[in-house]
Amino acid sequence: MRVVLTGCAGFIGSHLAERLIADGWHVTGVDAFTDYYDPALKRANLIPLAGEPRFDLVEGNLVDLDVPGLLADRPAIIHLAAQAGVRASFGEGFDRYVRDNVLASQRMLEAAQATGCRRVVYASSSSVYGDAAAYPCSEAATPRSPRSPYGVTKSMGEDLAAVYRAGGLETVGLRYFTVYGPRQRPDMAMTRLCRAALDGPAFPVMGDGSQSRDFTYVADAVDATVRAMYSDRQLPPVFNIGGGQEATLGQVIDLVGSIAGHSVPLEWGPAQRGDVRRTGADTSLARTVLDWTPTTTLAEGLAAQYAWAAAATRTPLAVRASA
Ligand SMILES: NC(=O)c1ccc[n+]([C@@H]2O[C@H](COP(=O)([O-])OP(=O)(O)OC[C@H]3O[C@@H](n4cnc5c(N)ncnc54)[C@H](O)[C@@H]3O)[C@@H](O)[C@H]2O)c1
Repeated sequence: MRVVLTGCAGFIGSHLAERLIADGWHVTGVDAFTDYYDPALKRANLIPLAGEPRFDLVEGNLVDLDVPGLLADRPAIIHLAAQAGVRASFGEGFDRYVRDNVLASQRMLEAAQATGCRRVVYASSSSVYGDAAAYPCSEAATPRSPRSPYGVTKSMGEDLAAVYRAGGLETVGLRYFTVYGPRQRPDMAMTRLCRAALDGPAFPVMGDGSQSRDFTYVADAVDATVRAMYSDRQLPPVFNIGGGQEATLGQVIDLVGSIAGHSVPLEWGPAQRGDVRRTGADTSLARTVLDWTPTTTLAEGLAAQYAWAAAATRTPLAVRASA
């Protein structure tokens, strides 16, 4: 019962590592502690696992590591490691997206196939859809049309997975739709909104606030991921994983204000390139095949994230252990 989990120190990966250990797995976590955001935050994400005998950490980048060696005993595999974020993928930053999303994924898939692993569950993204012609987006009916270099690399990840799938490796891509909750990455809107409501700089609203997202609470995203790993059915190549809690940025700003008890300081700016107008997931495939149902409402999840952010403001890193 061993699982190799890449990106284990990140936002989603650290929650997933805890869930897998609670389920009885031995987790070999892999992470490069890249500096896209403060690596100290990633180390803090792993504090709850300190001393855990069923967790070991392999620190390194998948483009350099001996990946076949890591997979020699054919463990279960969940591949979340990636360079996330839409805006930083434009311009000079793109090379790290190619390295950490395309090259790293190809090395994982190649090694998984060479060692005879059964299945690779990996993180894709709602970004592969771009601005769709109709909503909600469905895996079968909505074409991929990414609007950012980041989305292109996630789409390439799916294309690579399809190549190895055709060669006999079962690959299952999870198109996560805006995941939020405690430990959310510091570049993401809800973390910055909570910080603005607490003590931080004003929240920069990019655009008119009417852009909307289908929000997914992190425990629900984690639950979908373990279901994809545990399933003994033959699974389709991709699933939408969306929480079904669609809201505009303006609505989220109001919600954070009502949780905080005062309005959030805002700064208005132009829409950013790469940001789509809307995301919305048709999750009937995941509900039917994985028997998955997201259970956390936006109000509940945002209250949990706000409480975590408030505690982190008082004791910045150690508090993350309790998240
Ligand atoms: N958070 C979201 O809303 C969201 C939405 C859609 C898709 N995703 C995808 O889910 C996954 C996890 O996202 P997250 O928000 O937890 O991001 P994160 O940045 O918090 O976690 C990713 C982790 O991967 C590590 N990493 C990056 N490249 C690596 C490499 N080449 N080798 C080893 N480790 C490497 C980083 O150090 C980081 O700890 C990513 O694949 C991301 O693209 C996230």
